[in-house]
Amino acid sequence: MGTIQHNYTYASTLSDALKINWKVDDLIGEGKGLDFTKPFLPDSLTGIQAIAALDAREKLALNHIRGRTYLYLFGFVEEFILPFVLEQARRAVHGDSAQVRSLLTFAEEEAKHIDLFRRFSEEFEKQFPTPVGLIGPAKELADAVLSHSPLGVVLVILHLEWLTQRHYLESIKDDGILDPQFKSLLRHHWQEEAQHAKVDTLLASELAAALSADEIKVGIEDYLKIASLLNDGLTTQAKLDVETLERHTGRSFSAAERSEIEAAQISSYRHTFLVAGAEHPNFVKAVGELSAEGRERIAAVARALN
Ligand SMILES: [Fe+2]
Ligand SMILES: [Fe+2]
Repeated sequence: MGTIQHNYTYASTLSDALKINWKVDDLIGEGKGLDFTKPFLPDSLTGIQAIAALDAREKLALNHIRGRTYLYLFGFVEEFILPFVLEQARRAVHGDSAQVRSLLTFAEEEAKHIDLFRRFSEEFEKQFPTPVGLIGPAKELADAVLSHSPLGVVLVILHLEWLTQRHYLESIKDDGILDPQFKSLLRHHWQEEAQHAKVDTLLASELAAALSADEIKVGIEDYLKIASLLNDGLTTQAKLDVETLERHTGRSFSAAERSEIEAAQISSYRHTFLVAGAEHPNFVKAVGELSAEGRERIAAVARALN
């Protein structure tokens, strides 16, 4: 039987969630266009500046491609987070009303984020006519992820919720050169994700409380299997980005240039979406309380990816 120490409650996270109520239309669309003369993401999340094969204009275009895939990938994972959280809400339906409402609010917000990111992609395409290659379909990943144990899935979600916090607070919030519209979109997403990280800690703690030490071990192995699926997807996405950049610039890279750009981007994607979550102190703490051995397993995998 595992427990995770925390001082969150469904009632207080629900009360915080209800204070935030933006609509998709507030953030994107008419009069809220994207400024393609500015970067969308900080270099700490994209690893582009150090690429010798690209000039300043190409680096900015790759930054925009990464902005596009950044939001696409969040929408992509939200497509398995949404059914998972709905299932947890369904199981809780006759219990505590704060819990049911908190889970349904969480699910509704993820559905709104999926919508927001689709609307963003429409706006993006108006100013960036080159089709951006994207991994998918999301339903296939969702089915593959949800075939694992609930503890494995809830840990992946916890990892993603905490890394969203880290990206915004450590890299985006104080960056003065980013496009203000893109940054505002990330800020509004982050505000709601702050509650998700707490609700997901509550969920992980409840699920783990009913499990034996062996079942917790399975959950941690499942987290690693899902992380490996995500790693495969990110590697493919990095290669697609290089192809998109080639089409966009009309340039064809030599083998050496391609391998430099791909290596930098695969490493950046891994760091941004995998290592930043697996090494987040709150994630490490939660996993460590369930299993010290599991925490070491995950730390070793994160080190190997870094
Ligand atoms: Fe979200
Ligand atoms: Fe979320």
